Amino acid sequence: MSYFIGSVSFSILFARWLRKIDIRQHGSGNAGATNTLRVLGKGPAIAVFTLDIAKGVAAVLLGRLLGDESWVPVASGLAAIIGHNWPIFFRFKGGKGIATTIGAVAMLAFFPALLAGIAAIITIAATRYVSLGSMIFAVLLPIVFYLFGLEQALVMGAVAIGILALLRHRKNIVKLINGTENKLGGTKKGEH
Ligand code: G3P
Repeated sequence: MSYFIGSVSFSILFARWLRKIDIRQHGSGNAGATNTLRVLGKGPAIAVFTLDIAKGVAAVLLGRLLGDESWVPVASGLAAIIGHNWPIFFRFKGGKGIATTIGAVAMLAFFPALLAGIAAIITIAATRYVSLGSMIFAVLLPIVFYLFGLEQALVMGAVAIGILALLRHRKNIVKLINGTENKLGGTKKGEH
């Protein structure tokens, strides 16, 4: 069920409803909130960001309803992130899972997740690279979870989240190295 919830790609839906376009053919080509900001503007981007976060929240809550053991909500959150990245409703071409990750980890371990989130916000404010902030957030999660002594299921889940985020940001990593990555509110370089 969480995979199906994650598969509801709000950036694709909003772009379709508002502009009759496939967001995956515009901007960075990513089905996520950052690209929604680029292609559709602030209002739709805030809506997509909030709704994509809600998918992660809903998945963890669903996991908590179904099982007492801590790995159940972790697996449920991961399923939503996988759905967001590879959505069954949109030919398995989705986003990078960061907003859905925010929702899931905020429910799983709020304070440790907040610390990783603060590091990400500082990174984005300093560099204006959302992708770099996203990757720092996802890679810090397992480290912070481990340092906080959280249960193994949470630490291992966060390791999986970090790996997924890096895999989904492969193109961004190349662009960051080449200096062609899009900056928040900046000129659009290296787009297809
Ligand atoms: O969360 C997605 C973000 O890290 C990168 O998005 O569209 O700039 O590739 P985008």
